Amino acid sequence: MQLTNYFDHPIIQAPMAGGATTAPLVAAVSNAGALGSLAAPLLSPVAIIEQAEKIRSLTTRPFAINLFVQAMPQPSADEIAHASQLLRPVWQSFGWDSLPLPAKWCEDFEAQLEALITARPAVASFTFGMLNHDQIARLHAANIFVIGTATNVAEARAWQQAGADAICAQGSEAGGHRGTFIGAQDHAIGILALVPLLVDAVTVPVIAAGGIMDGRGIAAALTLGAQAAQLGTAFLACDESGIHAAYKARLLQAASEPEKSITCLTRAFSGRYARGLVNRFIDTMTTVEHDVPAYPVQNALTGSIRTHAANSGDTEFMSLWAGQGVAAIRAMPAAQLIERLVAEVQRTPLRQ
Ligand SMILES: Cc1cc2nc3c(=O)[nH]c(=O)nc-3n(C[C@H](O)[C@H](O)[C@H](O)COP(=O)(O)O)c2cc1C
Repeated sequence: MQLTNYFDHPIIQAPMAGGATTAPLVAAVSNAGALGSLAAPLLSPVAIIEQAEKIRSLTTRPFAINLFVQAMPQPSADEIAHASQLLRPVWQSFGWDSLPLPAKWCEDFEAQLEALITARPAVASFTFGMLNHDQIARLHAANIFVIGTATNVAEARAWQQAGADAICAQGSEAGGHRGTFIGAQDHAIGILALVPLLVDAVTVPVIAAGGIMDGRGIAAALTLGAQAAQLGTAFLACDESGIHAAYKARLLQAASEPEKSITCLTRAFSGRYARGLVNRFIDTMTTVEHDVPAYPVQNALTGSIRTHAANSGDTEFMSLWAGQGVAAIRAMPAAQLIERLVAEVQRTPLRQ
């Protein structure tokens, strides 16, 4: 199968873990002729199958399911105690005596992959690591098109060699977590450089992601040789996006007040570099962010802090993932956004 068989318009709504990619959002995007993606990294195997069924009740069009490729960590008691101390200024400011420990570090990846294969989406995309030949062969046997995320040439080549059908080139501008698994996560390459590098390095289609907010960005990505553009932040303010109302309000504030649209890469929330709006949590943790345990341990340890912040609508302690283009965010139904993006691509002249 060709990547272009899965959409009428070369636009992929990025998978976004943490609640944004509701079944209504994924289905609305696919119904509008683009490709919707369900972020399943934080979902249990049962929830993955339930969400896929919900999407299927809303659309007959192709959609994607996305997972983080990760192993179950086994941190020592000392590591956890140290990490909890690093977070002390935050939890103490909430008046807590100690940091509540999570029930588990992450979902079991193998079980999630089985659920994904059972759910049989047309497309599956992966980040944070690589599948092996056997896993990709199983996805292909289930007729599932496989997209691997790469942030540099070595990763793109590795995915192609393992049998991936397309590569998502994630540029430094991108909101959310960096998918890097070879080399340093903060050696981030911008998409203007990354897309042509990957287009030249692999023979499978390349999808451009990072900082694309409108039709001009999509046209630019296609001009660089990408077969599609993957947009995340642009969909966060859509009516169907499931993010917290206060987070959505912060994103829209970033659009009206440019000085509030500063993003940075931080590993303080999760132990993996991710791009989001700067807030008090990030500032408080700046000096120790290099010492926090790797994903998913830190992510699980900050879970109670982020839940507390969400319950009180306090955006200073939530993770406000957003890409560098956040100031260009627009609030509207997803179908309308796709329509606008398509019209903008058509209006963008190609300069020879
Ligand atoms: C809130 C948020 C959550 C994200 N979660 C995921 C995820 O679960 N899986 C994934 O592959 N990428 C995830 N990403 C990264 C996107 O796939 C994509 O690289 C990014 O959104 C593109 O940059 P943009 O946000 O500037 O459009 C996330 C991005 C955001 C903004």
